[in-house]
Amino acid sequence: MKNIKAIIFDAYGTLFDVNSAAEKCKDKIGDKWEPFANFWRITQLEYTWLRSLMGRHKDFWKITEDSLDKSMKSFQIHSSMRDELLNLYKVLSPFKEVHETLKTLKEKKFKLAILSNGTPSLLNKLVKSNNLENFFDDIFSIEEVGIYKPSSKVYDIPIKKYKIEKNEVAFLSANTWDVSGGGNYGYQSVWVNRNNNIFDNLDFKPKFEIKDLSGLLSKF
Ligand code: LAC
Repeated sequence: MKNIKAIIFDAYGTLFDVNSAAEKCKDKIGDKWEPFANFWRITQLEYTWLRSLMGRHKDFWKITEDSLDKSMKSFQIHSSMRDELLNLYKVLSPFKEVHETLKTLKEKKFKLAILSNGTPSLLNKLVKSNNLENFFDDIFSIEEVGIYKPSSKVYDIPIKKYKIEKNEVAFLSANTWDVSGGGNYGYQSVWVNRNNNIFDNLDFKPKFEIKDLSGLLSKF
């Protein structure tokens, strides 16, 4: 990748494993923990898109609670699990290559940042609880603009802050729609295809595809 001035990461699903909260409860939830976790995630995302379209913003933590309530009902999970799942969501685990990759990129003097739907306090807590706080120059939250990804207002945040061109950003996301959102906006958008998925048809092809974040290291 050429002329990159900042490497910007999506948080949920890209740096942090959104399924790890339900997975840590799999003894109590049973085999349905994974479809339940996937349903919770997609419902959460749908609520971000729907609220953005309706102009009825609610922060990501409240949306995480609202989507959990629907998902627990849908999968008949006992209400006594609610607090445990929510507390685990605040301290999601990072994917295994994250620490080492960020360390190497930082040593190469890249500007590193997060751009996420999460609230500032959620993101700060996640980064701190996983000892990643020294790697990031900035943690950008959509709360600054009050609308969710893939609004261009969100992707504008780091461009305005760093006063750089859109194509000087390498944007990393495991969420295909976010790769398309950032790419259509003008970032050099890279797909972290952790689960061998199929890409979307949203008039954008990722700059390239990597299996996990360590795949980025050979691209500079
Ligand atoms: C985020 C979601 C999209 O962190 O994963 O913004």
